[in-house]
Amino acid sequence: MVMKLNQAGMERGKQEEAAEEEEIVCLDESFFINDNYQLTTFTFGSQVLQLFCLQSSSTDYDLTGQLVWPGAVLLNDYLSKNVKMLQGLSVIELGSGVGITGILCSRFCHEVVLTDHNKEVLKVLNKNIELHSSSATPSCAGLVAEKLEWGNDDDMGQIIQRYPSGFDLVLGADIYILQLLFPSVLNSSHSLSSIPPLFDTVEQLLRLRGGHCKFILAYVSRAKMMDAMVVDEAIRHGMKISEVNETRSVVRNLEGVIYEIKL
Ligand SMILES: C[S@@+](CC[C@H](N)C(=O)[O-])C[C@H]1O[C@@H](n2cnc3c(N)ncnc32)[C@H](O)[C@@H]1O
Repeated sequence: MVMKLNQAGMERGKQEEAAEEEEIVCLDESFFINDNYQLTTFTFGSQVLQLFCLQSSSTDYDLTGQLVWPGAVLLNDYLSKNVKMLQGLSVIELGSGVGITGILCSRFCHEVVLTDHNKEVLKVLNKNIELHSSSATPSCAGLVAEKLEWGNDDDMGQIIQRYPSGFDLVLGADIYILQLLFPSVLNSSHSLSSIPPLFDTVEQLLRLRGGHCKFILAYVSRAKMMDAMVVDEAIRHGMKISEVNETRSVVRNLEGVIYEIKL
């Protein structure tokens, strides 16, 4: 009798568990991801570019790279006025997002490697690379997307293995933004900041060419604390950081500047 009660109890328990499981609605990642990209036209001086991107951020995932940011507008305006500087160079871009900067560079450079750490962002980046590779003239550089998370030794190891002679130029636009999107989380700014690992990665890339390489960073100011952190971090890594003349400007109501950073 006792056995029977236990079995009956167990059966009831199993049924209740199954019913509870049925009530739990599991939302997978794709529920939060908007990948309704629109083909959008951008103009930088005489350069016209079309690529897929979102018009506004719609999720709380780390998907900032689905949009084109003011830093990219600043950097692309600067590069489009200085295309001679890009002729024949081998370039790596950090935090490429949809790829607007690297794709512009591919019109003038010898080789362009676009990188990001987010797998959804890498998907739209590859979509844009495909779009451009099909319409590119033969003189355009080969465009490649690679996963590179700042401070990640495995990712960096792969990059060094594939590109052992390094790059002439490292580019970055608006690539410290995550910290500012979630200020309430940031009681201690340093522990969650993406700036130290970013500069670790930049230093490794600059050292690949024994110093014959520079980092061009399009910086858009959103907080005084961040302005100081970027400059301090470059100095802490033994780098020289200087503003490029006449690049301080207002972009989408924010103050931006182009920095040139060298070992
Ligand atoms: C604000 S978006 C800028 C995208 C693009 N450069 C632009 O200006 O439009 C920042 C980019 O950096 C990437 N990113 C953020 N943290 C990163 C990290 N730790 N390692 C590599 N990429 C990162 C994001 O996925 C995103 O594409």
